[in-house]
Amino acid sequence: MILVTGATGFIGRSLMPCLEREGMIARAYEGRMNDPLNLRKELEGITTIVHLAGTEARGRDRLLHHVDVDGTERLVEEARRADVQRIIFVSRLGADPASMHALLQAKGQAERLIQRSGIPYTILRSATLYGRNDRFFEIIVGLAAWTWPFVWLPGGGNMGMQPLWVEDFVRCLVQAISRPDLINKIVSVAGSEQLPYATLVQQLLRVAGYRRIPLPVPMLLFRPLTPMLFNWWYWPAISRYFMDRFFVPEIADHDAVYRQFGFKPARIRDTISYLRRSRLGLRIFRR
Ligand SMILES: NC(=O)c1ccc[n+]([C@@H]2O[C@H](COP(=O)([O-])OP(=O)(O)OC[C@H]3O[C@@H](n4cnc5c(N)ncnc54)[C@H](OP(=O)(O)O)[C@@H]3O)[C@@H](O)[C@H]2O)c1
Repeated sequence: MILVTGATGFIGRSLMPCLEREGMIARAYEGRMNDPLNLRKELEGITTIVHLAGTEARGRDRLLHHVDVDGTERLVEEARRADVQRIIFVSRLGADPASMHALLQAKGQAERLIQRSGIPYTILRSATLYGRNDRFFEIIVGLAAWTWPFVWLPGGGNMGMQPLWVEDFVRCLVQAISRPDLINKIVSVAGSEQLPYATLVQQLLRVAGYRRIPLPVPMLLFRPLTPMLFNWWYWPAISRYFMDRFFVPEIADHDAVYRQFGFKPARIRDTISYLRRSRLGLRIFRR
Protein backbone atom coordinates (compact mmCIF):
# COMPACT_ATOMS: atom_id res chain seq x y z
CA MET A 1 0.00 0.00 0.00
CA ILE A 2 1.38 3.39 -1.08
CA LEU A 3 0.73 6.65 0.74
CA VAL A 4 1.17 9.86 -1.28
CA THR A 5 1.66 13.11 0.59
CA GLY A 6 0.85 16.30 -1.35
CA ALA A 7 -1.41 14.28 -3.65
CA THR A 8 -3.56 17.31 -4.47
CA GLY A 9 -0.62 19.31 -5.84
CA PHE A 10 0.68 19.72 -9.39
CA ILE A 11 2.68 16.47 -9.44
CA GLY A 12 0.20 14.55 -7.29
CA ARG A 13 -2.66 15.30 -9.69
CA SER A 14 -0.77 13.49 -12.46
CA LEU A 15 0.66 10.79 -10.21
CA MET A 16 -2.56 9.47 -8.65
CA PRO A 17 -4.26 8.48 -11.95
CA CYS A 18 -0.96 7.06 -13.21
CA LEU A 19 -0.63 4.81 -10.15
CA GLU A 20 -4.18 3.65 -10.69
CA ARG A 21 -3.49 2.87 -14.38
CA GLU A 22 -0.48 0.83 -13.30
CA GLY A 23 -2.67 -1.17 -10.89
CA MET A 24 -0.85 0.10 -7.79
CA ILE A 25 -2.83 0.56 -4.61
CA ALA A 26 -2.31 4.09 -3.38
CA ARG A 27 -4.10 6.63 -1.28
CA ALA A 28 -3.65 10.31 -0.61
CA TYR A 29 -2.41 11.47 2.78
CA GLU A 30 -5.08 13.51 4.52
CA GLY A 31 -4.10 16.05 7.14
CA ARG A 32 -1.12 18.25 7.90
CA MET A 33 2.49 17.09 7.86
CA ASN A 34 3.32 18.27 11.36
CA ASP A 35 0.62 16.29 13.11
CA PRO A 36 2.30 13.14 14.52
CA LEU A 37 -0.95 11.54 15.70
CA ASN A 38 -2.51 11.91 12.29
CA LEU A 39 0.68 10.67 10.62
CA ARG A 40 0.63 7.61 12.84
CA LYS A 41 -2.97 6.86 11.90
CA GLU A 42 -2.39 7.44 8.17
CA LEU A 43 0.73 5.27 8.10
CA GLU A 44 -0.99 2.15 9.38
CA GLY A 45 -0.48 -0.65 6.83
CA ILE A 46 1.65 1.51 4.53
CA THR A 47 4.75 0.00 2.91
CA THR A 48 5.81 2.84 0.59
CA ILE A 49 5.58 6.62 0.90
CA VAL A 50 5.79 9.02 -2.02
CA HIS A 51 6.56 12.29 -0.33
CA LEU A 52 5.40 15.29 -2.37
CA ALA A 53 4.02 17.64 0.29
CA GLY A 54 5.86 20.93 0.13
CA THR A 55 5.32 24.65 0.29
CA GLU A 56 7.64 26.11 -2.31
CA ALA A 57 4.61 27.56 -4.13
CA ARG A 58 3.82 29.72 -1.11
CA GLY A 59 7.22 31.41 -1.24
CA ARG A 60 7.64 31.75 2.54
CA ASP A 61 10.90 30.66 4.21
CA ARG A 62 9.11 30.03 7.51
CA LEU A 63 6.69 27.60 5.86
CA LEU A 64 9.56 25.84 4.09
CA HIS A 65 11.14 25.09 7.45
CA HIS A 66 7.88 24.16 9.10
CA VAL A 67 6.53 21.85 6.40
CA ASP A 68 9.35 20.83 4.04
CA VAL A 69 11.98 20.28 6.72
CA ASP A 70 10.24 19.76 10.08
CA GLY A 71 7.29 18.03 8.38
CA THR A 72 9.69 15.61 6.68
CA GLU A 73 11.35 14.94 10.02
CA ARG A 74 7.97 14.07 11.61
CA LEU A 75 7.10 11.88 8.63
CA VAL A 76 10.39 10.00 8.83
CA GLU A 77 10.02 9.43 12.59
CA GLU A 78 6.53 8.03 12.19
CA ALA A 79 7.49 6.01 9.11
CA ARG A 80 10.27 4.32 11.08
CA ARG A 81 7.80 3.51 13.83
CA ALA A 82 5.34 2.12 11.27
CA ASP A 83 8.06 -0.02 9.67
CA VAL A 84 7.64 1.58 6.24
CA GLN A 85 9.82 -0.19 3.66
CA ARG A 86 10.50 2.63 1.23
CA ILE A 87 10.36 6.42 0.88
CA ILE A 88 10.40 8.12 -2.51
CA PHE A 89 11.17 11.81 -2.15
CA VAL A 90 10.91 14.49 -4.82
CA SER A 91 13.69 17.02 -4.54
CA ARG A 92 15.22 19.62 -6.82
CA LEU A 93 18.38 19.79 -8.89
CA GLY A 94 20.82 21.88 -6.87
CA ALA A 95 19.46 20.72 -3.47
CA ASP A 96 22.14 21.28 -0.85
CA PRO A 97 21.82 21.80 2.93
CA ALA A 98 24.49 24.50 2.66
CA SER A 99 22.88 26.35 -0.25
CA MET A 100 22.38 30.10 0.14
CA HIS A 101 18.98 29.74 -1.58
CA ALA A 102 16.25 28.92 0.94
CA LEU A 103 14.40 26.38 -1.22
CA LEU A 104 17.49 24.43 -2.25
CA GLN A 105 18.70 24.50 1.33
CA ALA A 106 15.37 23.15 2.63
CA LYS A 107 15.38 20.42 -0.03
CA GLY A 108 18.95 19.52 0.93
CA GLN A 109 18.01 19.32 4.61
CA ALA A 110 14.96 17.16 3.87
CA GLU A 111 17.11 14.85 1.70
CA ARG A 112 19.60 14.47 4.54
CA LEU A 113 16.83 13.57 7.01
CA ILE A 114 15.59 10.89 4.66
CA GLN A 115 19.08 9.54 3.96
CA ARG A 116 19.79 9.26 7.68
CA SER A 117 16.42 7.69 8.53
CA GLY A 118 17.57 4.12 7.95
CA ILE A 119 14.51 3.58 5.74
CA PRO A 120 15.36 2.51 2.17
CA TYR A 121 14.85 5.59 0.01
CA THR A 122 15.00 6.91 -3.53
CA ILE A 123 15.42 10.63 -4.07
CA LEU A 124 14.48 12.05 -7.44
CA ARG A 125 16.12 15.42 -7.99
CA SER A 126 14.18 17.09 -10.74
CA ALA A 127 14.41 20.16 -12.92
CA THR A 128 11.29 22.35 -12.91
CA LEU A 129 8.32 20.55 -14.41
CA TYR A 130 5.74 21.82 -16.84
CA GLY A 131 2.27 20.77 -17.93
CA ARG A 132 -1.29 22.09 -17.87
CA ASN A 133 -1.85 24.32 -14.79
CA ASP A 134 1.89 24.53 -14.09
CA ARG A 135 3.50 27.45 -12.34
CA PHE A 136 6.21 27.71 -14.94
CA PHE A 137 5.33 28.00 -18.64
CA GLU A 138 1.82 29.30 -18.00
CA ILE A 139 3.21 32.01 -15.75
CA ILE A 140 5.91 33.05 -18.22
CA VAL A 141 3.20 33.50 -20.87
CA GLY A 142 0.76 35.03 -18.36
CA LEU A 143 3.31 37.65 -17.28
CA ALA A 144 4.18 38.43 -20.90
CA ALA A 145 0.53 39.29 -21.44
CA TRP A 146 0.93 42.15 -18.94
CA THR A 147 4.33 43.43 -20.03
CA TRP A 148 3.32 44.27 -23.64
CA PRO A 149 5.15 45.07 -25.88
CA PHE A 150 8.05 43.44 -24.07
CA VAL A 151 8.93 40.15 -22.48
CA TRP A 152 11.42 40.42 -19.63
CA LEU A 153 14.53 38.30 -19.78
CA PRO A 154 16.24 38.13 -16.38
CA GLY A 155 20.01 38.33 -16.77
CA GLY A 156 19.61 38.63 -20.55
CA GLY A 157 17.95 35.21 -20.79
CA ASN A 158 21.24 33.32 -21.14
CA MET A 159 20.69 30.88 -18.29
CA GLY A 160 20.30 27.28 -19.47
CA MET A 161 17.00 25.49 -18.78
CA GLN A 162 16.09 21.84 -19.12
CA PRO A 163 12.40 21.57 -18.22
CA LEU A 164 10.74 18.18 -17.91
CA TRP A 165 7.12 17.34 -18.77
CA VAL A 166 5.24 16.38 -15.61
CA GLU A 167 3.76 13.23 -17.22
CA ASP A 168 7.28 11.99 -18.00
CA PHE A 169 8.39 12.76 -14.47
CA VAL A 170 5.48 10.78 -13.07
CA ARG A 171 6.53 7.79 -15.22
CA CYS A 172 9.94 7.98 -13.53
CA LEU A 173 8.31 8.18 -10.09
CA VAL A 174 6.13 5.14 -10.73
CA GLN A 175 9.14 3.14 -11.92
CA ALA A 176 11.16 4.22 -8.89
CA ILE A 177 8.55 2.74 -6.56
CA SER A 178 9.09 -0.79 -7.84
CA ARG A 179 12.81 -0.71 -8.74
CA PRO A 180 15.08 -2.29 -6.08
CA ASP A 181 18.18 -1.08 -7.98
CA LEU A 182 17.26 2.53 -7.15
CA ILE A 183 17.21 1.92 -3.38
CA ASN A 184 19.36 4.40 -1.47
CA LYS A 185 20.13 6.36 -4.62
CA ILE A 186 19.77 9.98 -5.61
CA VAL A 187 18.71 10.21 -9.24
CA SER A 188 18.81 13.49 -11.20
CA VAL A 189 16.26 13.98 -13.94
CA ALA A 190 15.57 16.72 -16.49
CA GLY A 191 14.17 17.09 -19.99
CA SER A 192 16.00 16.04 -23.14
CA GLU A 193 16.51 19.63 -24.37
CA GLN A 194 18.90 22.14 -22.83
CA LEU A 195 18.17 25.61 -24.07
CA PRO A 196 18.75 29.22 -22.97
CA TYR A 197 15.83 30.87 -21.19
CA ALA A 198 15.45 33.41 -24.04
CA THR A 199 14.98 30.63 -26.61
CA LEU A 200 12.54 28.79 -24.37
CA VAL A 201 10.45 31.95 -23.88
CA GLN A 202 10.34 32.59 -27.63
CA GLN A 203 9.09 29.06 -28.21
CA LEU A 204 6.36 29.38 -25.56
CA LEU A 205 5.17 32.76 -26.81
CA ARG A 206 5.02 31.54 -30.40
CA VAL A 207 2.72 28.68 -29.41
CA ALA A 208 0.59 30.96 -27.22
CA GLY A 209 0.29 33.40 -30.14
CA TYR A 210 2.03 36.37 -28.44
CA ARG A 211 4.53 38.68 -30.14
CA ARG A 212 6.85 40.43 -27.71
CA ILE A 213 10.15 42.28 -27.89
CA PRO A 214 12.80 40.62 -25.67
CA LEU A 215 13.92 43.03 -22.95
CA PRO A 216 17.04 41.95 -21.04
CA VAL A 217 16.78 42.93 -17.37
CA PRO A 218 19.90 42.80 -15.15
CA MET A 219 19.67 40.32 -12.29
CA LEU A 220 20.73 43.13 -9.94
CA LEU A 221 17.32 44.72 -10.49
CA PHE A 222 15.43 41.54 -9.62
CA ARG A 223 17.09 41.06 -6.26
CA PRO A 224 15.38 44.06 -4.57
CA LEU A 225 12.18 43.66 -6.65
CA THR A 226 11.47 40.06 -5.66
CA PRO A 227 10.97 40.56 -1.88
CA MET A 228 8.96 43.75 -2.52
CA LEU A 229 6.60 41.90 -4.84
CA PHE A 230 6.16 38.85 -2.64
CA ASN A 231 5.59 40.76 0.57
CA TRP A 232 2.09 41.73 -0.58
CA TRP A 233 1.30 38.79 -2.87
CA TYR A 234 -0.13 36.30 -0.38
CA TRP A 235 -0.97 33.42 -2.73
CA PRO A 236 1.49 34.02 -5.55
CA ALA A 237 0.88 32.18 -8.81
CA ILE A 238 4.63 32.04 -9.23
CA SER A 239 6.96 30.90 -6.51
CA ARG A 240 9.29 33.49 -5.08
CA TYR A 241 11.94 30.83 -5.48
CA PHE A 242 11.39 30.94 -9.24
CA MET A 243 14.33 33.33 -9.46
CA ASP A 244 16.69 30.73 -7.93
CA ARG A 245 16.97 29.00 -11.28
CA PHE A 246 18.64 32.09 -12.75
CA PHE A 247 21.42 31.71 -10.19
CA VAL A 248 21.72 27.93 -9.89
CA PRO A 249 21.34 26.18 -13.27
CA GLU A 250 18.87 23.30 -13.31
CA ILE A 251 20.84 21.13 -15.67
CA ALA A 252 21.35 17.36 -15.75
CA ASP A 253 22.76 15.04 -18.42
CA HIS A 254 20.56 15.35 -21.49
CA ASP A 255 20.00 11.57 -21.49
CA ALA A 256 19.54 11.24 -17.70
CA VAL A 257 15.95 9.98 -17.95
CA TYR A 258 16.78 7.57 -20.78
CA ARG A 259 19.74 6.06 -18.92
CA GLN A 260 17.86 5.59 -15.64
CA PHE A 261 14.33 4.90 -16.82
CA GLY A 262 14.68 3.69 -20.40
CA PHE A 263 12.59 6.24 -22.26
CA LYS A 264 13.21 9.60 -23.89
CA PRO A 265 11.27 12.53 -22.40
CA ALA A 266 8.87 14.31 -24.74
CA ARG A 267 10.08 17.34 -26.69
CA ILE A 268 8.84 20.68 -25.42
CA ARG A 269 7.18 21.66 -28.71
CA ASP A 270 5.12 18.46 -28.69
CA THR A 271 3.70 19.00 -25.19
CA ILE A 272 2.79 22.69 -24.91
CA SER A 273 -0.45 22.91 -26.87
CA TYR A 274 -2.10 23.71 -23.51
CA LEU A 275 -0.61 27.21 -23.85
CA ARG A 276 -2.78 27.76 -26.91
CA ARG A 277 -5.76 29.07 -25.00
CA SER A 278 -7.24 32.47 -24.38
CA ARG A 279 -7.00 34.56 -21.20
CA LEU A 280 -3.72 33.03 -20.03
CA GLY A 281 -2.94 36.55 -18.75
CA LEU A 282 -5.43 35.91 -15.93
CA ARG A 283 -3.45 32.81 -14.91
CA ILE A 284 -1.14 34.88 -12.74
CA PHE A 285 -4.08 35.70 -10.44
CA ARG A 286 -4.87 32.06 -9.80
CA ARG A 287 -3.06 29.99 -7.20
N1 LIG B 1 6.68 21.33 -9.59
C1 LIG B 1 7.98 21.28 -9.86
O1 LIG B 1 8.45 21.78 -10.91
C2 LIG B 1 8.91 20.60 -8.90
C3 LIG B 1 10.22 20.29 -9.29
C4 LIG B 1 11.08 19.67 -8.40
C5 LIG B 1 10.63 19.35 -7.12
N2 LIG B 1 9.36 19.67 -6.76
C6 LIG B 1 8.93 19.32 -5.40
O2 LIG B 1 7.94 18.32 -5.51
C7 LIG B 1 6.97 18.46 -4.47
C8 LIG B 1 5.58 18.58 -5.10
O3 LIG B 1 5.59 19.66 -6.02
P1 LIG B 1 4.23 20.25 -6.60
O4 LIG B 1 4.62 21.12 -7.74
O5 LIG B 1 3.22 19.17 -6.82
O6 LIG B 1 3.76 21.17 -5.38
P2 LIG B 1 2.36 21.89 -5.15
O7 LIG B 1 1.55 21.90 -6.41
O8 LIG B 1 2.65 23.20 -4.52
O9 LIG B 1 1.62 20.94 -4.11
C9 LIG B 1 2.08 20.86 -2.80
C10 LIG B 1 1.27 19.83 -2.07
O10 LIG B 1 1.73 19.79 -0.72
C11 LIG B 1 0.60 19.89 0.15
N3 LIG B 1 0.94 20.57 1.40
C12 LIG B 1 1.40 21.83 1.57
N4 LIG B 1 1.56 22.09 2.88
C13 LIG B 1 1.19 20.97 3.55
C14 LIG B 1 1.12 20.61 4.93
N5 LIG B 1 1.47 21.47 5.90
N6 LIG B 1 0.68 19.38 5.24
C15 LIG B 1 0.31 18.49 4.29
N7 LIG B 1 0.36 18.76 2.97
C16 LIG B 1 0.78 20.00 2.60
C17 LIG B 1 -0.42 20.67 -0.64
O11 LIG B 1 -1.71 20.42 -0.12
P3 LIG B 1 -2.70 21.65 0.24
O12 LIG B 1 -2.94 22.36 -1.05
O13 LIG B 1 -3.86 20.98 0.83
O14 LIG B 1 -1.92 22.52 1.21
C18 LIG B 1 -0.23 20.11 -2.04
O15 LIG B 1 -0.95 18.92 -2.19
C19 LIG B 1 7.37 19.70 -3.68
O16 LIG B 1 8.11 19.30 -2.57
C20 LIG B 1 8.26 20.46 -4.66
O17 LIG B 1 9.22 21.24 -3.97
C21 LIG B 1 8.49 20.27 -7.61
